[in-house]
Amino acid sequence: LAVHLGTGALAEARLADCAEAVARRYAAEGRLVRGFVAGKLRRDPATRAVLSLAGADGFGHVLDIGCGRGQLALALLLSGHASAVTGIDRNAAHLAQAVRAAQFGAPGLDFRALQLDLSAGAALPVADTVLMIDVLYQLEPSAQDRLLHVAATAARQNLLIRTADPGRGLRSLLTRAYEVTTRRISPHGGDHVAHRPPRAIAGALRRHGFRVRILPCWQGTPFANVLLFASRSRLPHRTARRA
Ligand SMILES: C[S@@+](CC[C@H](N)C(=O)[O-])C[C@H]1O[C@@H](n2cnc3c(N)ncnc32)[C@H](O)[C@@H]1O
Repeated sequence: LAVHLGTGALAEARLADCAEAVARRYAAEGRLVRGFVAGKLRRDPATRAVLSLAGADGFGHVLDIGCGRGQLALALLLSGHASAVTGIDRNAAHLAQAVRAAQFGAPGLDFRALQLDLSAGAALPVADTVLMIDVLYQLEPSAQDRLLHVAATAARQNLLIRTADPGRGLRSLLTRAYEVTTRRISPHGGDHVAHRPPRAIAGALRRHGFRVRILPCWQGTPFANVLLFASRSRLPHRTARRA
């Protein structure tokens, strides 16, 4: 049964518990990785947004594109918001960490890893919900078009994309400066920093038959991140606050 985050202090406590439970699974990877996982889950507004949007029905089988170390996937599985996750990334070491963390303890979590370079535009496994958190902008624009197409085709029900909005003034400038500066030294960096207007991404998703909302996803940060929540069914009212 999915644990609902709710709001206020209770939500914070549940999020902290979930982050700690996921981070414990990464203990074998060392203190730095365990600390990264706990901090990322607690402080990144994407965690709260994605867990909340999963709702009572959950996200079913999830395809997490650009999953990195898989901490968000494991949070969805542990909290009952996903029944299984397939994580895709090109970083073999991070995928191996995700698999070990999923297998920690018995009976383990249903996480499968697929190592793939997303820029080729290869077809992707079908899933109920597809996540692309902070990965689309790391590809060059024509590769982004191909990835959007294969991701939309793979998503039976929902597609969630987190990216930065290049049209939000100082926030956008700060986001770009941060990404460009850290890209080469960060283990999570990609080959490009190419943020596209969320409305253009939403337009492409609507052509694939999705209803799309664009929600702010920068709370507590100076960045310009938004979350596109695309669904093939009517969107629930609580997603109505648009960015
Ligand atoms: C900023 S990280 C985001 C990781 C994860 N979604 C999260 O929210 O923590 C971007 C991820 O995309 C992956 N990535 C970037 N370009 C890729 C490509 N061309 N093919 C496959 N994975 C790629 C990186 O290896 C990295 O794990």
